[in-house]
Amino acid sequence: MTHLSRGIGLLGIVLLIGLPALAQSPAEEPLQNIQVFPAGTTRTQLLSTMNAMNESLGVQCVYCHVAGAPGQRPDFVSDANPKKDIARRMMLFRDKINEDMPAVLGAASSSTRVLCSTCHRGVPIPRQIYEIVFDATAEGGDPAVGLAKFEELRSQFYGGQSYDFSELALVELGRRATAQGRTDDAMAYLLGNFKYHPNSVPTYLAIARAKDAKGDRAGAIQDLEKAAALNPGDERIGAELARLKGA
Ligand code: HEC
Ligand code: HEC
Repeated sequence: MTHLSRGIGLLGIVLLIGLPALAQSPAEEPLQNIQVFPAGTTRTQLLSTMNAMNESLGVQCVYCHVAGAPGQRPDFVSDANPKKDIARRMMLFRDKINEDMPAVLGAASSSTRVLCSTCHRGVPIPRQIYEIVFDATAEGGDPAVGLAKFEELRSQFYGGQSYDFSELALVELGRRATAQGRTDDAMAYLLGNFKYHPNSVPTYLAIARAKDAKGDRAGAIQDLEKAAALNPGDERIGAELARLKGA
């Protein structure tokens, strides 16, 4: 045997003995309060899921776990933080969705799995931005308050996955206000949208609706004409123009 092959043989023995020894290291001390993860889940596997949960919900570990004293790590075993049990039930809920999915889809079934992040998108309470803005105005109050809330969320979350900052968010608020007969509020949201989306066709269309609802048909026609100029050949705009001009 050459020195080299003896060296490799020795390395192999060290690896064989060394690996089980590593598995017993403190990092793998047994888990104590596991009710949902499958039996046999290792600490390393569990921690990688915990990190993923942090990212999916945009939170820190102590969102679900009990914080430790200053300088101490959280008490991961305790169930005293109610969010931990919600998270357990969310895991079961996610699993149930994935279990039922093939039956729902039938032949169209693919391998897509619903994850925490599918719904949460980086926030603990996944909601649509227009719902948050609507609630901020005490369900339809001052649109200046709503627009300020929108701006605040935009400066915090723009570019991420949590909220839709496309032209449709404020259009939805404008549509809702129009449907509730609050056409001045609708106009405030829709004109506010031009700050972010200057040539937005859906915004002009929603403004036309709001003006028409207010009885300003000539104004509505003007806005539809602007939309038509931005989007020539759009049949829906043409039909709407014909309706307003004809009636
Ligand atoms: C969204 C909530 C949530 C977040 C965030 C979260 N955990 Fe957990 N954690 C849980 C739940 C739920 C369990 C229990 C799972 C079960 O019962 O099967 C758990 C269990 C644990 C355990 C096992 C404790 C034991 O021995 O029983 C450890 C360790 C742990 N988490 C660490 C972390 C760390 C570290 C982080 C941050 C990187 C973290 N967790 C973030 C919900 C969370
Ligand atoms: C099908 C969509 C969906 C999936 C999948 C999902 N959640 Fe949720 N989750 C929600 C919704 C919606 C809420 C908020 C309900 C509300 O308070 O309005 C929520 C709330 C929560 C809360 C409470 C937040 C709070 O502060 O009140 C926790 C914790 C949570 N989810 C954890 C998880 C974890 C962990 C997973 C993955 C195992 C997960 N969720 C998967 C939809 C989902």
